[in-house]
Amino acid sequence: MKPPPFPTLSLFSLLTTTLNLTLTSATNLNVTALTYRGPISILQCWTVAPPFSTSTSGPIGASVASLGGVSGNASFIVQPPGSAGGYKNAPGPQWSWFISGLGHITLLNSTDKVWVVGGKYGLVYADDTDTYGHSTTFPSTDETVLLGLPTADGKQPEHEVLHEGACGWADLIGI
Ligand SMILES: *[C@@H]1O[C@H](CO)[C@@H](O)[C@H](O)[C@H]1NC(C)=O
Ligand SMILES: *[C@@H]1O[C@H](CO)[C@@H](O)[C@H](O)[C@H]1NC(C)=O
Ligand SMILES: *[C@@H]1O[C@H](CO)[C@@H](O)[C@H](O)[C@H]1NC(C)=O
Repeated sequence: MKPPPFPTLSLFSLLTTTLNLTLTSATNLNVTALTYRGPISILQCWTVAPPFSTSTSGPIGASVASLGGVSGNASFIVQPPGSAGGYKNAPGPQWSWFISGLGHITLLNSTDKVWVVGGKYGLVYADDTDTYGHSTTFPSTDETVLLGLPTADGKQPEHEVLHEGACGWADLIGI
């Protein structure tokens, strides 16, 4: 077998370079925040600081976004298929990662809502601890599995508001 001709190799490295650029072009992680304005729960799309960096230790070359500190008790939560919790508040400022399944979050005092699909786009932040609240239903035919991680000292992660309302696909597809 002849080795691949030189032009093929250049094309390959060109493609690899382009791919690397694509992988790192998402500067920051964006998450839907279930937060509050005065006494009511609202949805916003937050861009989390600091931006992604390329790790040089551990998983070398991975893109890593820090979520800030977490503390207290983490929870692994299994919601039965088709279940609904009724209106309630976040128990405390926390990350909730929908690992699998589906969540539909609606607000008591607004028509704003969001579908959260379990998986890599399933991370939300919630701190509507003391408001009129929200309702989450889990309409999947399978269990919906969540990981709850309280933030350290009940603090919001470092962020900027990208826009009002939940993050849409365009805000998330960078990963
Ligand atoms: C974590 O859970 C344990 C056992 O239920 C409890 O004793 C402890 O107070 C909890 N810690 C916090 C910070 O809630
Ligand atoms: C929110 O909705 C509840 C239930 O409809 C209502 O009792 C309450 O007054 C509303 N609060 C605000 C601030 O609109
Ligand atoms: C988050 O939003 C910013 C600003 O629109 C965008 O540049 C970035 O690529 C988004 N991140 C992801 C992971 O999609």
